Amino acid sequence: MSLFPIILAAGQGTRMHSSLPKVLHTIGGRPMLQHVVDSCFELNAQKIAIVYGHGGDQVRGTIQSNNIYWALQEEQLGTGHAVSQAAHLIDDDVIVIIAYGDVPLIKSQTLQLLADKLKTSDLSVLTTILDDPFGYGRIVRTSDGKILAIVEEKDATDEQRTIKEINTGFIAAKGIDLKRWLKKVKPNNKQGEYYLTDCISIAVQEGKTVNAVICDDPFEVQGVNNRIQQATLERAFQAEQAEQLMLQGVTLLDPSRVDIRGNLKTGNDVCIDVNTVLLGDVTLGDNVSIEPGCVIENSVIGDNTTIKANSVIESAHIQDHCDIGPFARIRPQAKICSGAKVGNFVEIKKSVIGEGSKVSHLSYIGDTQMGKNVNIGAGTITCNYDGVNKFQTIIGDRVFIGSDTQLIAPVTIGDDATIGAGSTITKSAPLGELTLSRAKQVTIKGWQKPQKNNKENK
Ligand code: UD1
Ligand code: CA
Repeated sequence: MSLFPIILAAGQGTRMHSSLPKVLHTIGGRPMLQHVVDSCFELNAQKIAIVYGHGGDQVRGTIQSNNIYWALQEEQLGTGHAVSQAAHLIDDDVIVIIAYGDVPLIKSQTLQLLADKLKTSDLSVLTTILDDPFGYGRIVRTSDGKILAIVEEKDATDEQRTIKEINTGFIAAKGIDLKRWLKKVKPNNKQGEYYLTDCISIAVQEGKTVNAVICDDPFEVQGVNNRIQQATLERAFQAEQAEQLMLQGVTLLDPSRVDIRGNLKTGNDVCIDVNTVLLGDVTLGDNVSIEPGCVIENSVIGDNTTIKANSVIESAHIQDHCDIGPFARIRPQAKICSGAKVGNFVEIKKSVIGEGSKVSHLSYIGDTQMGKNVNIGAGTITCNYDGVNKFQTIIGDRVFIGSDTQLIAPVTIGDDATIGAGSTITKSAPLGELTLSRAKQVTIKGWQKPQKNNKENK
């Protein structure tokens, strides 16, 4: 039987105090709803449905896939009502799994267990045991352990409130059964809502069997209603990723001080020091070392490269055996070739730094094609922008640029050229020659230092 997950995501999330719909708040840089969608698709489901309401267009615009049916729930009349909005999408012979868009860390394996439980039951419920079950629906069982009903906190008797087994909200049932039960759900309760959980007692009345899968990972089934819960799950998620990385052979000097918000691929013997944030798609080759305080986003770092402390790298490709930072800023479309060095307080944008070239101190290199084994002196600036347009700087192989030079683009420096320190280069410099532009140094003989004027300084 094929699986058909339905994700409930219509709630407003008032307690987030946010203009962003709750399910779009992120864990590990990914919207909570996206986490749930991804887990559902890992299940081998062809199609899924999402019941949405608050922040509709924004939610639909963010979560994109051709395999999602969207069902609008205009008014939030309860979880049973929410599922009913998608009832027309449910085929009789599918296994429906109900998930919540604000319970982001649910694993596909757990959802699969819930579906598998239907081999021996007609309805399965994912439950968990909580020391403090306040606020949750309680699992009411007979003395011999059969599930009879789920009773919400507000409708529960004092005795039922002592039950510690709670409903996580995730259930599974055959399409044909669920649709029949949903029609029987009435808003006869303290909140006047259509409770999905009433399907349990309805099924029991029909003589059907209801069984539970008990989840022992509290984070997997924890919902997010406020930013404290969001932060709790963020830490749980990061801790798990860090554990996976260490098991794959990555050294994390402090697993609680690295954040991965995206997809990280690592080679062998990668070492990541504290306070590093990795965003989007990042690939770190063998023997890459990341020193403290680095931010690396959507970038590829080659084998044996070291990223020194406090460097920021975005959408760049850094090849092997490079040495970057400390305090380097590598911006989009930068390509740093093998063996190159980018030192402190250097910014590189949309440029190629050729093999073995060095930009060691206090420089801006933008819109530049640089050859091999070039040495760029401290304080060199490629002046690529006239306030309107951007221009290219071309630097040949083995060029030596003296310190404090401005290269006014468009400009070309030929192979093996040397530029004298302190030059402002506006015209192309020929290959192999020394080119410099520097006012002649003069000394004013017998010049007197100005004296303090006592009257004025009183
Ligand atoms: C629900 C369960 C409760 C369970 C708890 C777990 C019911 C009646 N109660 O309670 O047994 O212990 O979850 O967290 O099902 N939603 C909609 N439309 C609605 C109402 C809710 O889409 O009209 C969505 C919400 O966005 C949320 C989920 O359904 O993702 C659960 O809704 P919520 O209001 O948090 O349910 P609870 O009352 O907490
Ligand atoms: Ca809730």
